[in-house]
Amino acid sequence: MNILLIGSGGREHALAWKIAASPLLTKLWCAPGNAGIAQEAECVALNVADHAAVIDFCKTNKVDFVVVGPEAPLAAGIVDELTAASIKVFGPSKAASQLESSKGFTKDICKANNIPTAAYERFRDGAAAKAYIRKHGAPIVVKADGLAAGKGVVVAMTLDEAEVAIDALFGASGAEAVVEEFMEGEEASFFVLCDGDNALPLAAAQDHKRAFDGDKGPNTGGMGAYSPAPVFTDEVRERTMNEIIYPTLRAMAAKGMPYKGVLFAGLMITKDGPKLIEYNARFGDPETQVLMLRLMSDIVPALLASVDGELKHFDLRWYPQPALTVVMAAKGYPGDYKKGTRIEGLDKAAQVEGVEIFHAGTKAEGGHIVANGGRVLNVTATGNSVSEAQRRAYEAIDRIDWPGGFCRRDIGWQAMAREKEGK
Ligand code: AMP
Ligand code: GLY
Repeated sequence: MNILLIGSGGREHALAWKIAASPLLTKLWCAPGNAGIAQEAECVALNVADHAAVIDFCKTNKVDFVVVGPEAPLAAGIVDELTAASIKVFGPSKAASQLESSKGFTKDICKANNIPTAAYERFRDGAAAKAYIRKHGAPIVVKADGLAAGKGVVVAMTLDEAEVAIDALFGASGAEAVVEEFMEGEEASFFVLCDGDNALPLAAAQDHKRAFDGDKGPNTGGMGAYSPAPVFTDEVRERTMNEIIYPTLRAMAAKGMPYKGVLFAGLMITKDGPKLIEYNARFGDPETQVLMLRLMSDIVPALLASVDGELKHFDLRWYPQPALTVVMAAKGYPGDYKKGTRIEGLDKAAQVEGVEIFHAGTKAEGGHIVANGGRVLNVTATGNSVSEAQRRAYEAIDRIDWPGGFCRRDIGWQAMAREKEGK
């Protein structure tokens, strides 16, 4: 089978690595890819926003299956257009991917179906939003409606902060805000494969969103992750499936927008049980890097079953050992950073037992690997415990010579604290 993977991040390198191991694979391309993905796939400089060009590439190269990594092409309707051109493609339709692209859409589905989430209100007007905020008090959460790459959310601990966030948001015309209740608990990312009717739970992970040690500093796309997530017990999983995932799938099918693809639920595990923070219509980054190391089964038949509506009797096998990934980012990320700094020592780092290095923003230049983005490398390891996986990941990182980069040194701290307590 010929497969085209779309994307260029660490998530796509992990997917490419796993797809490349499939006995079903004949040839793998990735558009546009990166220097690490080039070890697993032929990278092609396709403009993935040009759907006609993607269709043309698939027809010319006899591509049997397309796997879409990031959210932007999904929200732009790439799945609808490829499907209309009779090309099999993994991912939700444009309408179904509103579960990620419109927070208001998702909140309305939750309200209509009693799906546990933060209480909220939608606003098109700043004064009305501020009145609501004053009525409910802080802490309170202000979100822009639409895709904002994780930057559209302000968790305001004071009324002042919330009002500043509203002013910033309604500075732009046509803005829409969701103001919602602050939920207290521990977060987890949970991934479920869906085929429109049926759901196959994958695994849960925990992500470190803040830039610096101790979960301090600005929010980022994610600085590290590990799986499994100890807070996501069997009981929490059961409740999440019954109270959140299945009601969502039934609601989407009833709206004539059956959800196919991977559904990524960002959850707050509160003292009252799991509550939905948000949905994403794609695999997580960097969560996918740890999920792929833990997945024992071939991923390709599962992705095909999602498209073909055949997940009902599907099963996947997982390694019980935890996996952990540490993101190495360019100094300055998530603010301004430099591109083009040279990275050495990757071969030596990859020799540490249990370690896989997935590339995000890298490119090959003059026989060297150079940084080409904010998040640049995902040093990923398995071990018999989170502590062992962490030790291996940092041992590999210490072999990497990249003065232009930085990473957090405490990825996995919550799980390791639990391990120390013997829980
Ligand atoms: P989102 O983009 O909706 O995932 O929000 C980004 C981050 O803001 C989440 O990962 C949470 O840490 C935090 N957050 C969002 N909504 C809430 C909420 N209602 N209560 C507490 N924290 C929240
Ligand atoms: N790591 C969070 C995300 O992929 O959105």
